[in-house]
Amino acid sequence: MQPALPDAIQQRYACRKFVADQPVSLGELALLLEAGRLAPSAFGLEPWRFITVTDGARAAIVHACHDQPAAATAAAFIVIVALVAALDPDSVYVRKQFKAEARDGDPAPIHDAYRAFHRADSITEWAKGQCNFAAAHMLLQATHLELGSCPIGGFDAAALSAALRLPAGESPALVIALGRCAHAAPQRLRKPD
Ligand SMILES: Cc1cc2nc3c(=O)[nH]c(=O)nc-3n(C[C@H](O)[C@H](O)[C@H](O)COP(=O)(O)O)c2cc1C
Repeated sequence: MQPALPDAIQQRYACRKFVADQPVSLGELALLLEAGRLAPSAFGLEPWRFITVTDGARAAIVHACHDQPAAATAAAFIVIVALVAALDPDSVYVRKQFKAEARDGDPAPIHDAYRAFHRADSITEWAKGQCNFAAAHMLLQATHLELGSCPIGGFDAAALSAALRLPAGESPALVIALGRCAHAAPQRLRKPD
């Protein structure tokens, strides 16, 4: 039986080796993307883009992840990309998001608050932090689907950007390796509180 949310929280673990020749289905990938899409974000800016990779750029992504075992054996990847340039307070993207966020109201107050908040020198890291909310949703959804997953932050950002042909102004935030896990959950290591 598929684990419900409290069980998924208990049962998720970082899988370091996936079973060969066990693909992640298009239906499963769609559910994972939907879990990410519904994640919360500050100011409602959703500063992310999700790239699914099952073939094509696969080898280059594995290499960009320093050939880590989780990457080398994964059946699929979802790469979460931070939309950095789009976060300029005067961008079309920001205007569009705030128009939606204000619903039928005036977007000016939230836009003014964001303009006061925005710092060009730290916005990249801020955007990547937002992406981690989408990642957490996807990791728990993967467990619910009885899929193994491993968040991978240990990558060469330039190599990954090249593999994915990311435009300037987008920056890779996290790679999620996916598949059927080839090993059981290791003993969980956590601080007591
Ligand atoms: C942002 C982030 C980056 C991570 N990067 C890697 C990584 O590059 N390689 C890897 O094997 N595990 C990576 N992990 C997995 C962690 O090592 C793992 O979550 C942690 O040791 C706790 O184990 P658990 O997830 O099995 O509970 C990453 C986790 C997070 C949240």
